[in-house]
Amino acid sequence: MPENSSVQTILTKSPIKAAQIIKRGGIVAFPTETVYGLGANVFDARAIEKIFAAKQRPNDNPLIAHVGNLEQIKLLVSEINETADKFIKAFFPAPLTLVLPKAEKVPRAATASLPTIGVRMPRNKLALEFLRQCKTPLVAPSANLSGKPSPTDWQAVYEDLNGRIDCILQGEATEIGLESTVVDCTANTPLVLRAGAITLEDLQKIIPETRIYNHRENEQPKSPGLKHRHYSPRAKVIPASPKFKVQSSKSKAFIGLTEPKEKFDLIKTCASVEDYAHSLFDFFRQCDRREIEEIFCETVEETGIGLALMDRLKRASDG
Ligand code: TXA
Ligand code: MG
Repeated sequence: MPENSSVQTILTKSPIKAAQIIKRGGIVAFPTETVYGLGANVFDARAIEKIFAAKQRPNDNPLIAHVGNLEQIKLLVSEINETADKFIKAFFPAPLTLVLPKAEKVPRAATASLPTIGVRMPRNKLALEFLRQCKTPLVAPSANLSGKPSPTDWQAVYEDLNGRIDCILQGEATEIGLESTVVDCTANTPLVLRAGAITLEDLQKIIPETRIYNHRENEQPKSPGLKHRHYSPRAKVIPASPKFKVQSSKSKAFIGLTEPKEKFDLIKTCASVEDYAHSLFDFFRQCDRREIEEIFCETVEETGIGLALMDRLKRASDG
């Protein structure tokens, strides 16, 4: 448990009880279809500060606002432009976050002083029930300590944040396992800032001009989160082609699609790219619990959800 833990963390399956804690200015971890989030009332700057403290999150990294119905989007943004309107109609509720100019009323703490805000309506039933009970949109980053893999079950939230947050709303393990697709809708061309389960191909069916944002060196990144180290287990993450040869005497693990020929201390062979994406963060945490030193991760083709999976692998392996 972290040294400065002082809060009693309540575990509950009741969205009503969890919502009462939000109404009293508390912070609550809850399941979504992507990963578990750590929620606070978007209009409560003091509660938002508690999120940054609990996660040890750099304060230049903006949060995503979650809504329980489409009406609430109007409370958060100054305008829903045509691009956003098309994506909302095509996908919401979905593992998709749209970045739009923020409404004046949204406190600066929510967006790390950016003039824009990311908005998403999750499709997980318990998340929606909880959001509806809160009667306000919630800002919610992933419910992990900053830099760690995002939590895909409540036990992973507990491992990182017990004693640091007011409540965990206990639901099932998450369906997708990787964070939402983030799309900047503020310019003429929609830009994918973070790949996720709503794929580039899905978005291009609605707006063909949509493209992936490529951050240039020396340029302020459009998504501040992109510059921080992410998703990292303690073990070294090594992306590996299907035919790789392991030359190492360290304790090692493998995750991928192809049954490996060599010996590993822990192996996860996934049935599909979706299954691989779903299992990755949980596997990272299992490796840390077993003090594995190296994790070999099979590389996959960067299309569909494979793009999001490769993005997380690359980030976890750098630095
Ligand atoms: O699936 C998800 O999106 C999960 C669940 C809980 O909804 N949330 C999540 O939040 O992954 P977080 O805070 O771990 O990641 C938010 C990402 C960061 O990379 C951040 O920089 C970016 O979204 N972001 C948020 N607001 C933004 C904005 N106004 N402009 C650009 N990027 C933004
Ligand atoms: Mg995160």
